[in-house]
Formats: sequence, structure tokens, C-alpha cells
Amino acid sequence: MKLAFFQLEDWEEKMIREKFPANDLYIDRNAINLEKLPDVNDAEVLAIFVNSRITKEVLERFPKLKLVTTRSTGFDHIDLEACKARGLTVCYVPGYGDNTVAEFTFGLILNLTRKMYWAIDHVKREKSLAFSVDALRGVDLKGKTLGIVGTGRIGKEVIKIAKGFGMNVVAHDMFPDAKFAEAVGYPYVTLEELLRQADVLTFHCPYTKDTHHIVNMENIKLVKRGAYLVNTARGGIVETAAMLLGLKEGILSGVGLDVFEEEIATRSDLALQGLSASAAEVVRENKELIEMPNVLMTPHNAFNSKEALERILETTLANIHAFQEGTPQNLVP
Ligand code: NAI
Repeated sequence: MKLAFFQLEDWEEKMIREKFPANDLYIDRNAINLEKLPDVNDAEVLAIFVNSRITKEVLERFPKLKLVTTRSTGFDHIDLEACKARGLTVCYVPGYGDNTVAEFTFGLILNLTRKMYWAIDHVKREKSLAFSVDALRGVDLKGKTLGIVGTGRIGKEVIKIAKGFGMNVVAHDMFPDAKFAEAVGYPYVTLEELLRQADVLTFHCPYTKDTHHIVNMENIKLVKRGAYLVNTARGGIVETAAMLLGLKEGILSGVGLDVFEEEIATRSDLALQGLSASAAEVVRENKELIEMPNVLMTPHNAFNSKEALERILETTLANIHAFQEGTPQNLVP
């Protein structure tokens, strides 16, 4: 069975080469790019990461394809309808790094609320510690309210950390977990109530048609004045224009983003070609966010710990083996 792995690092390649015959493997350092597809149209398995967008057009270039397996928890980069129409199996990696993403989320929260990034950056740039800390005054987390949308695997880890900081928690979820909420001690509220109450907003739901722009130009006005907003889930959950409005009007004190709308285009100037006018506008808005002093952006890096990557690769290889055995596992929901 011909397996094509994209966006692999050296250590991953080494592990994969130990598991499969050389003739069965195609290994690429880059993500799949429709403009520059490699000559592997005999691939039966595509093992990809979030920067490989699997569209109908990409699928047409792999006529023998049977399995798409993504080395990620999110799968919104894959056109599931197109895969279904082709009768393909699509697997993912649920729950490889719940604590990994939760820890990173708190990294962003602390950098915003305690201005840690600005302090460190100033010291590095000036090569001196001799400056006033007046501009670096932050706010405590203890006693503040964390508003969390999505209380699944990652969300639950975020809640546990928040409780450790002495924060109050309010949550919103399509499928509330009443048992966990009672054990840990937090209420489920409507989205509107959450926006009104939270001092720190954080998102841990998948990106679906239901979660598209759940924070938007309308409801950004409900957000508690001075709140911080952090998104480590998927860019499309929060409307970019609404964050800009919130920042400009002082509704939001700061924003921390690991994910963005039009993420692939924003991160690669090449991909700007052929963008729709609305997508190009989002890329422009992202660039405006990068320039804003109270916005911290990281390049989709929350998953990126040594332990998480090892778990991702192990699960992906298990996904491929299970498929080969005729007992596919970790099918996308
Ligand atoms: P999960 O499936 O365990 O939890 C998701 C939660 O969101 C569930 O409780 C679900 O009921 C809830 N939900 C679904 N639709 C909703 C809606 N319309 N409104 C409110 N809640 C809704 O997923 P997990 O593992 O916690 O991951 C969450 C997301 O985090 C992933 O879908 C992925 O997009 C993102 N992620 C980001 C990473 C990064 O590197 N930045 C790494 C890993 C995941």
C-alpha cells in the first residue's frame, strides 16, 4: 500500500522508515499544495497535517486514494463531503495533547494579563534592565472569571488550570458535561451570558458551521469591557473584524491568538494568489492585528511539544495499521 506523508521532520521520517517498506513510502517535508503536487498519484494513504488543505481538486489528483489520516485533532482543513463522495476513510488524532494545548493557552493568558512578552522583549531589545515597570502593570487572575466555550478534552484541562489559579469559571457547550461541572464547580451559561461575565474568554470547540463566527460583529458589544480574548482552537470561530472592533473600541484589553481565519494564506504569501476579496480582506485584518501592541499571535503552535508530537505520530501509525487490518479507528466524527 503506497503511503504519502507530508510535512514530516527528520525524527518522524526515521520512525516511519522503520515501520514500512521503503518502496511503499513517499515522504515530503512540505504540506500538500495543489499548485506543486508531487508525482505520487499512486498514493493510497495521505498522512497530512493542518497546513495541507484536502479539497475536491486535491483528491482528484490521487485516483487510488483510500485513506486520509491527519496528524491533528482539528479536521476542518479536509473537505469531508468530498471524501465521503469518493468513499474515503478519514482518520484523525483525538486527545493527543489536552494538557499541551491547555498549558499553551495559559501561556498566552499570562503573557497578556501580566505583560510578560512586552517585558522580555524590551529587555532583549534594549539589552538592559534599567527601565521603569510602570507600563508593565498587569492584572491578577485570582478571583477573575474565565469564560470557556467548549468543555471537551482540552477545555477540561483549561478549567482545571484556571481553578488552580483561583479563577471562577463559566462555560458554554453544545453538550454540557454536568458531572464534570459539578465535580469541579462551574456553571454552564448561554453564550451571551458568558460574554457578559468573563474577564478572560477562551475557545476550545471545533470549527464547524455551528461555531463559525460565534463571536461576531454583533455580539462583540456584549463582551465585558476590558476582557481578554484567547483563541487556540480555530480561527473561524471568532470573526477577525469583530476582534479588531473590540480592540479599537476598548472592549478588549488584549487578544492572544494561536489560530487565525485564512490561516494558510496569512502564513504563506504564495497562497495569496487566487484569494477571494473577502479572504484577502481577512488576511489584511490579520496583518493589522500583528501590528497592534496588545495582540500576541503565535503560528499555530499550541500542539507543539515533544510529548504531544510523539503521541501524534504513534496514533497516526496505529490509524494506518488499523485501516490496513480492516478495522479502522479514530474515524472523524
Ligand atoms: P473535543 O471534541 O474533546 O471537545 C470539543 C468540545 O466542543 C465538546 O465538548 C463539544 O461538545 C463542544 N462543542 C462542539 N460544538 C459546539 C458548539 N457549537 N458550541 C459550543 N460547544 C461546542 O475537542 P478537543 O480535543 O478539546 O479540541 C478542541 C479543538 O481544539 C479542536 O477541534 C481543534 O480545532 C483545536 N486544537 C487546536 C490545537 C492547536 O495547536 N492550536 C491543537 C489541538 C486542537
